[in-house]
Amino acid sequence: MATIHVDGNQFEVDPADNLLQACLSRGLDIPYFCWHPALGSVGACRQCAVKLYRDENDKVGRMVMACMTPATDNTRISIADPEAQEFREGIIALLMTNHPHDCPVCEEGGHCHLQDMTVMTGHYRRQYHFTKRTHLNQELGPFIAHEMNRCIACYRCVRYYNDYAGGTDLGVFGSAAHVYFGREQSGTLQSEFSGNLTEVCPTGVFTDKTHSQHYARKWDMQFAPSICAGCAVACNISPGERYGEVRRIENRYHGEINGYFLCDRGRFGYGYVNRRDRPRMPLIKQDSGFAPVATAAALAHVARLLASGKPILGIGSPRASLEANYMLRALVGAGAFCSGMTRHDAELTGTVLQILHEGPVAAATVREIDAADAVLVLGEDVLATVPRVALALRQAARGKSFDMTREKKVPDWQAESAADIAQRELNPIYIATPAATGIDDIARQTLRIAPDAIASLGFAVANALDPAAVASSDIDEDLTLIARHIAAALRAAKRPLIVSGTGVGSSAVIQAAANIAWALHKLNPAVLLSLAVPEANSLGVALFAAPALEESLERVAGRESVVVVLENDLERRLPRAVLEPLLAHARLVVLDHQMTGTTNRAEVILPAATFAEATGTLVNMEGRAQRYFQNFDPAYYDRSIATLESWRWLGRVRGGGIEAENLDDVLADFETDLPQFKGVAHAAPGARFRMHGIGLARAPHRQSGRTAARAIVFVHEPRSTKDPDTALTFSMEGYNGAGAEDRPPELLPFAWAPGWNSPQAWNKFQTEVGGALKGGDPGVFLFEAKKQAMPRYFSPTAVQRGDGLRLVPLYEHFGSEELSGLAEPIRARGPASYVVLNRGDAQRLGIRDKDTARVTIDGVALDLPASTRDDFPHGAVGLPVGLPGIEPFVAGAPCSVAKGG
Ligand code: SF4
Ligand code: SF4
Ligand code: FES
Repeated sequence: MATIHVDGNQFEVDPADNLLQACLSRGLDIPYFCWHPALGSVGACRQCAVKLYRDENDKVGRMVMACMTPATDNTRISIADPEAQEFREGIIALLMTNHPHDCPVCEEGGHCHLQDMTVMTGHYRRQYHFTKRTHLNQELGPFIAHEMNRCIACYRCVRYYNDYAGGTDLGVFGSAAHVYFGREQSGTLQSEFSGNLTEVCPTGVFTDKTHSQHYARKWDMQFAPSICAGCAVACNISPGERYGEVRRIENRYHGEINGYFLCDRGRFGYGYVNRRDRPRMPLIKQDSGFAPVATAAALAHVARLLASGKPILGIGSPRASLEANYMLRALVGAGAFCSGMTRHDAELTGTVLQILHEGPVAAATVREIDAADAVLVLGEDVLATVPRVALALRQAARGKSFDMTREKKVPDWQAESAADIAQRELNPIYIATPAATGIDDIARQTLRIAPDAIASLGFAVANALDPAAVASSDIDEDLTLIARHIAAALRAAKRPLIVSGTGVGSSAVIQAAANIAWALHKLNPAVLLSLAVPEANSLGVALFAAPALEESLERVAGRESVVVVLENDLERRLPRAVLEPLLAHARLVVLDHQMTGTTNRAEVILPAATFAEATGTLVNMEGRAQRYFQNFDPAYYDRSIATLESWRWLGRVRGGGIEAENLDDVLADFETDLPQFKGVAHAAPGARFRMHGIGLARAPHRQSGRTAARAIVFVHEPRSTKDPDTALTFSMEGYNGAGAEDRPPELLPFAWAPGWNSPQAWNKFQTEVGGALKGGDPGVFLFEAKKQAMPRYFSPTAVQRGDGLRLVPLYEHFGSEELSGLAEPIRARGPASYVVLNRGDAQRLGIRDKDTARVTIDGVALDLPASTRDDFPHGAVGLPVGLPGIEPFVAGAPCSVAKGG
C-alpha cells in the first residue's frame, strides 16, 4: 500500500492505481469524464485536475491530471486548492460552450454524469452567448437514440465500443471542435453490446430508445435488485418500473459477473413483461376459448383435477425460479416431478454439473475470464449462448497489452500507452466451432469442424498435456498436430482457460473440455474452466436430479392424467409430432406469464409473474445462487390483475387456496427437504432484515410522483403494497442511505449516492473502484470445486459417423432465447429462420445460396432459405435454435435435405 496526502489528510491506497482511482476508492470526489474504471486513462478531458506538491514544503504545487498521475507513496495533492477548483470549473465552462442546455428534454437528465460533474465543480452560470456548433443525428437502429449536440468529446464511446467491445462500425470523424461520434452513415449499430454506450457516455448522446417509448425520469421509477434471465451468466440488472411497466433495464454492478456491462439481449429484451397478450387472470378453457375466472374458482378447479385420482405429473422448468420448481415438487411429490428438460439437455447439463461438482477446477467468474491469457473455445458460440462471456474473452485477448506494458513498468491504467506498446498483439485464443462466431476476429486460429471432430480435438489436446488422458483413436494427423500446438500454448500460459458448454449438443465435447482443464490443473492450478448451460436456471434445476421430460411424459402417455406445467413451453422442447401423443390424454394446468404453444393446450392457466413481478432465486453457470427481487406489484395499478409468483400459486394450490408461506418459509423447507440446496436461503437477507429499524426503499427518495402513481386509476391513493417476502419497500419510504458499509449489496436496487445520479455512482458502493461491492459480491455457491480431487478422465467414445447429414444447432444472440425473443426490438434485430449447409454438400444436392432448401427431420419437412458456406463442416446441417418455424431437434440427429419448392 502507499500513503497519499490529500488536503492534509492521509489515505492508504493501492500504488498500482492512478490518483483519480485512488481518491475515488477512498470516497473522495474528483470530477472526471474521459476516465472510466473499465477503460483506463487517456487524459483527454482535463476535468480531473488537482494540485500536486513536491513535498510538505512545496506550497505552490503544479496542476496535474489525477487520472494520469500514479498514486505513489508520499504523493501530496490538493483537490480543494482554489486554482485547481477554478481550472475544473473552467473546463466545464468550455465543455458547455457547445453543449445544449436541454436537460429538461434530455433523457439523460436525472442520471447524467455531466450534470453531476457540473454541479460538483460549481459551474452554474453560462458565460458564452454565441451560436453553438450543431450536428445532424443518425438513426442507429432499434436500441440506441443519437443526439450528437450533447457530445463533450470525451472519447469514451469509441474507446468502449471499438477497443473494449471490438465493434467496428462506430468511429470518430472530423477534428477540433467538430469531432463527430457515430457511424459512417445511419444504420443499426452492429455490436451485441451497443447498449452499454448509454451508460458509458457521460452525457445524453447515446440513450436507450426502448426507454424513450415510455420514458420516465430515474427518480420517478421504482427499481429492484434483479437478475437477467436471458442466459446462464445471470448478470445483475436494475429494472426501472413506472405505472406497472418495466421502462428500462440498467446494469447493476457485480464485481465478479457483469462488472459495468450487459449484452443487448439482456438490456433490451424486457418487452415480454409489458406484452398486452399476457395472461393476467386465471383462465379456464371453454368451448369458445379461454374464459377468465376468479382466483378462487381457478384454484378450486385445479384442486378438483388433482383430487381426481388420475396420475399426476409436475413438469418443472430451467427458466423458472428454484422456489417455483421446489414448490411444484412439493405439490406433486418427488416421484412425480420432472426437470422439464429434454433427455438430451438433461444429459448435457448433468455432465456440466458432474464436472463442476466432482472436478478440481471451479467454474470461472466473468472477471476471471477477463484475465485469462490463453483460451481454447471448444464448440460453444458464446456470443449467442452466454454473451457476457464473449465480451470477457475480448478482454482476455487484449490482456496481452497489459502484460506487455507491465514488463515495461507502465501501469495498466495507461490505456493509450498499453495500446501503443501492444499494437495488435493479442493473447492466443483458439476457437473450434461448426460455424463462424462473432469473436473469430480475436482468434489466433479458428477451426470449422463438426461436433465429433471438436470432441476429438479436445481429447487430443488433453492427451498432449497428460498422456493419461486418452485421445480418440480416429483423429487425423492434421488435427493431432493442431491439438499439440494448442496444448503448448495452454501449457505456456499463466492463466489458461477452457470454454465449452452444452451449445453444440455433445456430451463428448464437454467431457473433452473437462479433460483438458483437469490435465492442465496437474501442471497449473490457476487453470480456468467455463461451461455454458442452456438457460438461466439450468444448473439449479439439474441439482434436483429429477427425471427428464420424455421419460416422465411416457409414464403418463396414453392414460388420463393431470399434468402441471411450470413456466415451460413444451413445444420448444419436443417436436409437436412427439408431444401430441404424449399429451393426448393429459389435462394440463399451466403456470406461465406468456401465451405459448403449451398454454394453448391447457385446461387451466394460472397467470405467473415475470422476473419483474416476482422474487426468486436462480443458479447460474458458476453454481452461484442469486436472488432477484420483485420490481413492482402489478395489482397496485390494476386490481383485476391476478398474477402471482409461480411458487406462490403452487403454495396456494397445496394449501387448499390458503396462502400459508412467505418466501423465507419456502426457503427454510427447501433447504431441509433437499440438502443439496443448503445455503440457498442466504443468497440474500430475508424478509425480517432491517436497516436502522426500517425496510429498504425500492424507489429513489426524491420520487416526485409517489402520491400520484395511481392517480391514472383513481384519485385516492391507497397504501403502497406490503412485501411479505423481502426487506424492500414498494415506494421511496424506507432506508435509502448510499454506500453504507453494512448495506447488503444484494439489496441495492439502483445506483445513487449524494451528488452521484449516474451509473458512476457505483463507485460509492465498491471497496475499491472497479472492485468488489462493499459487503461482497452477491450470491452463494451451492457447490465448490474439490481442489484436491482428480477424477478419472473421460474416455472418448467411438462415434459411428454415417454418410448421412446430421443436425447441428446454431444460435443467434437475438432470437434464439425464448423470452427476449418476444420483445419487439429484439425481434427487429433477429434474423429470419435459415439453414446452413456446406457449399459442396449443397452443390451435390443442387442447392445454391439463398435457394429454398427442404430439411426433413423424422418425416417433418421445413422449407428454409439456404445459407451455403465453404467453411461449414461437410455433412452438417445447421439450424438456428428457437427461431420461428424451427421445431425442436436433437443435435446430431439425422436429417435429409433437398431443394425446396
Ligand atoms: S458521444 Fe458521449 S461518450 Fe462519445 S465522446 Fe461524446 S460525450 Fe463522450
Ligand atoms: S450475458 Fe446473459 S445474463 Fe448477461 S445481460 Fe446478456 S443475456 Fe443477460
Ligand atoms: S478524467 Fe482525467 S483527464 Fe479526463
